[in-house]
Order: sequence, then structure tokens, then C-alpha cells
Amino acid sequence: MDISHIEHIGIAVKNIDACLPYYENVLGLKCYNIEEVADQKVKTAFFKVGQTKIELLEPTSEDSTIAKFIEKKGEGIHHIAFAVPDVAAALAEAESKGVQLIDKAPRGGAEGLNIAFLHPKSTCSVLTELCQ
Ligand code: CO
Repeated sequence: MDISHIEHIGIAVKNIDACLPYYENVLGLKCYNIEEVADQKVKTAFFKVGQTKIELLEPTSEDSTIAKFIEKKGEGIHHIAFAVPDVAAALAEAESKGVQLIDKAPRGGAEGLNIAFLHPKSTCSVLTELCQ
């Protein structure tokens, strides 16, 4: 599906503010954007590492998928996002190869990107996002 690079790594945290000192003061990364994605019930914070980003995900509601993830597995790496030139085409290719899709069509994510998720059942247990 013509992946160019890892667009970002999503990390589930209980509290973004509590994590900023580690990312900024220890790793020396600069948080360049904090944004709430209402339909996913998360607050996100972004750091750049080369052309890849770290995306911290804090639940804004108890029924957020991130809240459920933290409840089940604890804080930590939540998903990996690959950059592709065309999310719809990549989804169609994945489906044609038997991959179970979470999103049948691309939708809007943070930073105005087109995104879609593949189901971990079909991706060796890593929640996988395609991003354009
Ligand atoms: Co993401």
C-alpha cells in the first residue's frame, strides 16, 4: 500500500499535563500542538521526532476508547500510524487481502488528516492506523 514512513505513534496516557515534563524536559521534544478530537473523545498532544510524531492520547470521557484501553491494558503504546498517499485505496487493498477494517471509509482525525484504522485481529495485534 505504498507506505512512506511512520506518521505517528499513539500513546495512551491518563493525563497529558503530567507527561509534558518528560517529553519536553527529559527528551527535549517540543509539544507543538494540543487539540481535542471531540468525536473520538480524546485530547491529543503532538511532538515531532524527525518526520514522525508522538501523539499522546488522553481520554476526555469515561466511554472513550482510550479510557477503555487504559482500563484494560494500562497506559502505553496504543497504535502505530503509517503514512500512505491514499487512505481509501489502502483500505480497499487491505480489505481485498482479508484484513478486518475498523473504518470502512476514511474519516477526519487530529491535524486535519484523513485516517482509518485496521483491526488488531488482522494486524498481529497492533492497532494500525493509515494516515494521509
Ligand atoms: Co493516531
